[in-house]
Amino acid sequence: MNSQDLRGKFLQFFKDKSHSVISSASLVPENDPTVLFTTAGMHPLVPYLMGEKHPAGIRLADAQKCIRTDDIDEVGDKIHHTFFEMLGNWSLGDYFKKEAIEWSFEFLTGKNWLNISIERLAVSVFAGDDDAPFDQESFDLWLKLGISENRIAKLPKKNNWWGPAGETGPCGSDTEMFIWAGSSEAPVNFQESCDDPNWVELWNDVFMQYNKVRIHDPEFSFQYKFEKLTQHNVDTGMGLERTLAVMNGFDDNYRTDLFWPIILEIEKLTSLEYGDKTDEEYIADDKQCWVDVRKQFRIIADHVKAAAFAINDGVLPSNKGAGYIVRRLIRRAVVKGHELKINQNFTAKLAEKVFEIYDGIYFTPLNTRHSEQSEESHRTTGSFAGVQDNRKEMILSELEKEETKFRRTLKDGLKLLSNQKEITGEILFNLYQSFGLPIEIATEEAKNQGIELSNLAIEQFGNLLKAHQELSRTASAGMFKGGLSEAGEITTKYHTATHLLLAALRQVLGGNVFQKGSNITAERMRFDFSYPDKMTAEQLREVKEIVNQKIEEDLPVQLEEMSFDEAKASGAMGVFESKYGDKVKVYSINSFSREMCGGPHVSHTGELGHFKIVKEEASSAGVRRIKAILE
Ligand code: ALA
Repeated sequence: MNSQDLRGKFLQFFKDKSHSVISSASLVPENDPTVLFTTAGMHPLVPYLMGEKHPAGIRLADAQKCIRTDDIDEVGDKIHHTFFEMLGNWSLGDYFKKEAIEWSFEFLTGKNWLNISIERLAVSVFAGDDDAPFDQESFDLWLKLGISENRIAKLPKKNNWWGPAGETGPCGSDTEMFIWAGSSEAPVNFQESCDDPNWVELWNDVFMQYNKVRIHDPEFSFQYKFEKLTQHNVDTGMGLERTLAVMNGFDDNYRTDLFWPIILEIEKLTSLEYGDKTDEEYIADDKQCWVDVRKQFRIIADHVKAAAFAINDGVLPSNKGAGYIVRRLIRRAVVKGHELKINQNFTAKLAEKVFEIYDGIYFTPLNTRHSEQSEESHRTTGSFAGVQDNRKEMILSELEKEETKFRRTLKDGLKLLSNQKEITGEILFNLYQSFGLPIEIATEEAKNQGIELSNLAIEQFGNLLKAHQELSRTASAGMFKGGLSEAGEITTKYHTATHLLLAALRQVLGGNVFQKGSNITAERMRFDFSYPDKMTAEQLREVKEIVNQKIEEDLPVQLEEMSFDEAKASGAMGVFESKYGDKVKVYSINSFSREMCGGPHVSHTGELGHFKIVKEEASSAGVRRIKAILE
């Protein structure tokens, strides 16, 4: 069974049960600013679960594109992805538990459908708590269908409750279906064995009858309650990749046709093999290193695919929000490629494979022509007949651009490394944060170049990283919940922006302007400087334009270390002189700016994005304050 068969069977099954098949919504949630990507099939349907009328009716089925980044660190194993498709059937105030469970059972076990033996199946139902009672009805339905009692586990909210997708919204208890994928016989008792990874969750039927709402926020510790929704809904989700793997007897989702062409291409690029054995067999053979290489293959395949899909839905790599996640996905893929010694750009090449895999499904077939009308026809019929996609070209060119830019940064980071005699934790951290150079690459390169690297430095790096992650977590709670943390990198950009701003202010207002202080968060920068008068609109415009001009020129930010006296003699501006030790760091941006500063900074000004002054005001006597943001 290939992916087209499985996707097609699922949609056909529910079409036969009077469901309208709808196209996948965009990966960018239209109405929900609290999340960056569509993370589940229910996401785009929230208004309809809340009672709004859906134009396609009250029974829907779809395959929804999703991106989840909360498990991004797990990507590399056999089952995790950032991009995946969720197959779902929906009742919007129509049928409820009985039909949902009976149809799930029929699709899983029916001869014309997945034909799974009941011996390999197990299910879980909600055990009940203060918010909602034990789901007796689902329990009884499964029993009646022939699932034996000891294959029905009763599990708490942690396992058998789904939603809301954001902080509040529709949610409810669920019943989940598992298949035994182990080579031995399936255990008899599911309640006891449900944590065994050989039980693979295939499908989740959520019975949405509640709306989670916030009731009050005394000092930001929110409390919630579950209100009954006006209608009973069913939201189901079956992971396409995972189900496809199990149906083909693979223990590794990357072996399915949804990934394999990309894996084969990486084999070509690296002249390395993915190998035939399972991860466990390689480990048993003492070949952990083969599994490590395989992990890099998987990360590259997953990240390039996710990035291509995100760009296809209009999320271009950038410094903010969803665009930043795309940027990180591409960079991480490039780093993994670098580790595998792929020395030329490769992400666009792999994206071509992504187009092939999803040809005619999410990407228009080759050699057809584009028109608005055909776009519309795809949206309503799911067919791409006669449609050409110029987005493919856009995806390729965005990947190419981003990879080229990042490879340069990576090269600069490696160069900076090669100029050191000894590597401290601080340098490692700077390489990591400003250059995106992971510690594994930095340490490997250091070893290759015979540079001293102590355990202490690695420990120090670990501490700095931990502090940074804590900062990021706090700064990015909420919007970036579950995503990649970016606060550190953003503040780095703001640090560099203060240098550009100071130089621009001195150019416009004169040499009596000195920095009097600054304050940076992940959201904005504040910059205090000596100047007696309110700045005019014209002066502000000029300063802003100079800074943006320097950003556009993409100038390198260069670091030198020297004594304080040497730095001063070289014309470097210094602000908090008392803070400096014997050696100081001097950051130069061409001849435009030269400042003593602890760093870290970006490697090229082009990374800053767009600089915008939000406010200019008095700070204290003779000191003005500018608030600015990078967009
Ligand atoms: N919304 C449910 C899930 O994502 C189906 O598992």
